[in-house]
Amino acid sequence: MKTVLSGIRPTGNLHIGNYFGALINFLKMQEENKCYFFIADWHSLTTHPDPSLLHVNVRNVLSEYLACGLDPEKATLYIQSDVPEIAELYLLLNMHAYLGELEKTVSFKEKARQNPNNVNAGLLTYPVLMATDILIHNADYVPVGKDQEQHLEMTRNYAQRFNHKYGVEYFKQPAAYNFGQELIKIPGLDGSGKMGKSEGNCIYLIDEPKVIEKKVKKALTDSGPAGLNAPKPDCIENLFTIMQTVSSPETLQHYNDLWNRAEIRYGDFKKQLAEDIINVTTPIRERIYDIKNDDAYLRKVTREGAEKARESASKTLKEVREIMGFKTF
Ligand code: TYM
Repeated sequence: MKTVLSGIRPTGNLHIGNYFGALINFLKMQEENKCYFFIADWHSLTTHPDPSLLHVNVRNVLSEYLACGLDPEKATLYIQSDVPEIAELYLLLNMHAYLGELEKTVSFKEKARQNPNNVNAGLLTYPVLMATDILIHNADYVPVGKDQEQHLEMTRNYAQRFNHKYGVEYFKQPAAYNFGQELIKIPGLDGSGKMGKSEGNCIYLIDEPKVIEKKVKKALTDSGPAGLNAPKPDCIENLFTIMQTVSSPETLQHYNDLWNRAEIRYGDFKKQLAEDIINVTTPIRERIYDIKNDDAYLRKVTREGAEKARESASKTLKEVREIMGFKTF
């Protein structure tokens, strides 16, 4: 049995990028593996969220994950800040993380460019905290989207560096995971890059059908195929990528053929795409509201999850402390 771990920052509602990029793999894996899923509330602090919103966001994401089918009977579901052992291991691993490599991280450079007035130390050491999340349960697999690939690579480096430094074979080499071979990037509706909360180009699982229709209708397109079998511009390729994840292979083939014959009508294409997204999200959306209002259930899930997560985390921390030379008198 393998150990699997994944997580999300509570910085807004879940979008279909989160769902198809990472969660869907986790849901399949929870059936047969030892699975941990957590809400990375410490990670969300890099942007200094309004204290009155922090808890609301954790509640939202937690409810949305449960509504998607994450099963607390099968997987350990917890909130990062409920597990203080993570903070201590983070401190220990920080001693083996170097400024040069942290400064070169793509996500750090991107965030520093976007918010030059808030380049804080937490942002710099974000990959160390993420490595800690993974190593504290010695995970084998980490279902994530393509954007997290480099963080996984850094996690493997830290694991290897620790093992080498102390002459042990303690930490495993965790692998980013997707059931297809390639990690997935769900693009946004604005023709560029990935779907992301801060990019404002998302379809959320909580979006009502009318909202989804409107967003898809407004998605960026061009003036149409330049001829037979023309290459697709990015904005069109992106919509096809989304269609590939939500629609049947026959539907995808149909619109690909229309594109290749230069007969596609974007109005029909978008209508179909919106309909297929709505089909996937509707049953999830309907469950979210019930779960979100069930305080007793959420309390039970997070309390039990924290207990199980701390059991595993404190075992790792005790062993790491021993390896590093900490002793009691
Ligand atoms: P976050 O909160 O940005 O996203 C959560 C998960 O959703 C995936 N994802 C996507 N996948 C495909 N296409 C997209 N457009 C897209 N947008 C988001 C992300 O890859 C991620 O898997 N640093 C992490 C949270 C984290 C974590 C961890 C994850 C903290 N510690 C340990 C795994 C293991 C993050 O910011 O994800």
